[in-house]
Amino acid sequence: MQKDKILVIGASGQIGVELTLGLRKIYGNANVVASDLREENDLLKGTGPYVSLDVMNKEMLHVQVIRQNITQIYLLAAILSATGEKNPGLAWHLNMQGLLNVMDIAREEKLQKVYWPSSIAVFGPTSPKKNCPQQTIIEPITVYGISKYAGEFWCNYFHRRFGVDVRSLRYPGLISYKSAPGGGTTDYAIEIFHEALEEKKYQCFLNEDTYLPMMYMADAIRATIELMEAPADKITVRTSYNLSGMSFSPKDIAAEIKKHIPEFTVTYKSDYRQAIADSWPQSIDDSVSRKDWGWKEEYDLAAMTKDMLDNLRKQ
Ligand code: NAD
Ligand code: SER
Repeated sequence: MQKDKILVIGASGQIGVELTLGLRKIYGNANVVASDLREENDLLKGTGPYVSLDVMNKEMLHVQVIRQNITQIYLLAAILSATGEKNPGLAWHLNMQGLLNVMDIAREEKLQKVYWPSSIAVFGPTSPKKNCPQQTIIEPITVYGISKYAGEFWCNYFHRRFGVDVRSLRYPGLISYKSAPGGGTTDYAIEIFHEALEEKKYQCFLNEDTYLPMMYMADAIRATIELMEAPADKITVRTSYNLSGMSFSPKDIAAEIKKHIPEFTVTYKSDYRQAIADSWPQSIDDSVSRKDWGWKEEYDLAAMTKDMLDNLRKQ
């Protein structure tokens, strides 16, 4: 059997850096090729191979897949919810064409597996707010959400029609300290830590009682790898799995940070991202992930807050 050789596309981004490092620990540094449109992230330098790659350039992508003997692709290149609303055409183009390029090559080259993340952004105002189930009314209102929902059905299509083993998670908002977030509505929950440590105050762009599904990056990386390593016959969802870690509001996270930095204060001034956040569920029912491939989160709000502050202080 061919040895695993992984290509991570979008490796210099918020998830890409940590996922690449996580995959390199398991598969060996040389067997995980990092790639991105932008320059190699400093944290990746010296840890394994890096190629400059535009996922929109299908020929070049195809050449790299053949040249590097790639057997699996993790596609992370995308435009997220807040940035997407500023340039809907570009967000649709990248998020759709990037996926279709990868899926075509996966089919032609008979790749073993593909990973592509979806998002809680597929859900819209008509979806249930609390414990939003795997299958429900899904009417997204952002271009990002529309592109993710369409992408889920392309994944399902390529699996059913061509047998591509593509797997996907609907990530909640992800919180991390290693690499900066890329323009999402949930980015406040990262900014707040930096401002708490540096300025002791933060102006939040969401209202204090805006509850959203969230997850610590360590859990998200583990979920991704566990899903990808699960036997194929355990995977019953070929669109994208709901995934849950925790749910909190800006007021909750501010109160948790104050336990560590008592002088920290937060003010609230919502902007266009409030409407995006209000359209998403407050919490997610991920019982299908738990049943199919044994998902269980480790971090709650208190554990995540402590770990974030400890690590940011070290930085
Ligand atoms: P990010 O913006 O931090 O990283 C995306 C990376 O893709 C960037 O490094 C960017 O340079 C690269 N990229 C952009 N266009 C490219 C192109 N044409 N070719 C190659 N690379 C290109 O995003 P992220 O937060 O790491 O998200 C990764 C994936 O996870 C996305 O699909 C996103 O929708 C999904 N997701 C993220 C979150 C989250 O909270 N971060 C939540 C849900 C889903
Ligand atoms: N964190 C992401 C965003 O806010 C959710 O997909 O866009």
